[in-house]
Amino acid sequence: MNDLQKDKVVLLFGGRSTEHDASVGMHEYFRKELQHDRQVEIEAEIYISPEGDCFIYKWDAPPRIGELTAANPVTILDMVAIVKMMGCFCFSLLQGRDGEDGNIQGLAAFLDIPGNFGAVYPSCLGTHKWAQAVIAGELLQEKLKKIETALVWANSSPAQVASVVDRFAGRECVIKPNSLGASFFAEPVSTLSAETLLGALERIQPFDPCVLVQERIVGREVSCGFLVVHPDIELLPVIEVKPTSGFMGRREKSGVYERSVLPRFDPIFDLVMKATLTLARHGGYHTAGRADFMVDQNGDAYLLEVNSMPGLMQTSLYTEMLREAGYSIADLVRTSIANEVHYREARRAENEAVSKFVRTDK
Ligand SMILES: Nc1ncnc2c1ncn2[C@@H]1O[C@H](COP(=O)(O)OP(=O)(O)O)[C@@H](O)[C@H]1O
Ligand SMILES: [Mg+2]
Repeated sequence: MNDLQKDKVVLLFGGRSTEHDASVGMHEYFRKELQHDRQVEIEAEIYISPEGDCFIYKWDAPPRIGELTAANPVTILDMVAIVKMMGCFCFSLLQGRDGEDGNIQGLAAFLDIPGNFGAVYPSCLGTHKWAQAVIAGELLQEKLKKIETALVWANSSPAQVASVVDRFAGRECVIKPNSLGASFFAEPVSTLSAETLLGALERIQPFDPCVLVQERIVGREVSCGFLVVHPDIELLPVIEVKPTSGFMGRREKSGVYERSVLPRFDPIFDLVMKATLTLARHGGYHTAGRADFMVDQNGDAYLLEVNSMPGLMQTSLYTEMLREAGYSIADLVRTSIANEVHYREARRAENEAVSKFVRTDK
């Protein structure tokens, strides 16, 4: 293919998020995968430091690993203006806060910046596990069971804390932040006490004012990715994760676990695929997404969460799902670009309809 016809992309990575390092890892993998791709060309790479300084690298002077802050820093406002002026497709590898909570999604939509950002709704939902469970319960009452959950605020009164402790008395629980990812601060608790809960609230509060206490589901953990190829949704292979410690905590997620592709004949395969398709259809995801479930000894499935920006490091689950389905990272980027063309057409038509309505509705 002629170089002039290549799709030019800007990679955005790093970020003011607890998942900053994962995003940097994703960038390393993307640049390796895209460097010699015949159809996708990296026009620029933009690193956002944990403090929010932006460092822009053009294609002919790429960032060096370990020297991401070598360029002159610019502010977020300037960076956004530069990206807008460049006019190319921005593939965001930002994770967590700002990256997948609706912030950058809203900004990109407002400023009409093409990219894989997606709509605000699925992002907000993905970073509000409690709300997501409520909606999944409505959509899938016959297929999924609900994990019993209490939402606790950092400033909850001693009486509120005591009532949550009472509710989960004598049961194994999981305490985790409502919005963070990558198992940050997620921990199993054999017996919930006020002291344990208050300690967790104090640790989590600087990052997230909402904490969830859930009954612990003991059993299997499976994950099903999907790829939107507008207007269709393709389900990717289901992967079962098996943490050697028995709990997929932060340490396990960074590599200490086994996993395998779930065979089609597995009794939970159909259930997980159907539930994922329903959730994917409902959410209006841009291109990628991944639904995670626990399945107990009775074969009942429970939704943990749907990720609107699944991790995309070389060893990430979603990357493996893509690979198993025969897709490369360049395929993912190209699919995002093709999807964005459709979404932009729809947004343009909507803008026209609104302006016509406002002008004629007098
Ligand atoms: N209620 C639960 N029962 C059993 N394991 C859980 C429960 N909630 C979370 N976990 C474990 O903790 C991990 C992280 O929780 P999750 O809700 O997916 O948050 P994160 O966004 O950090 O991935 C899950 O992958 C799962 O292994
Ligand atoms: Mg998860």
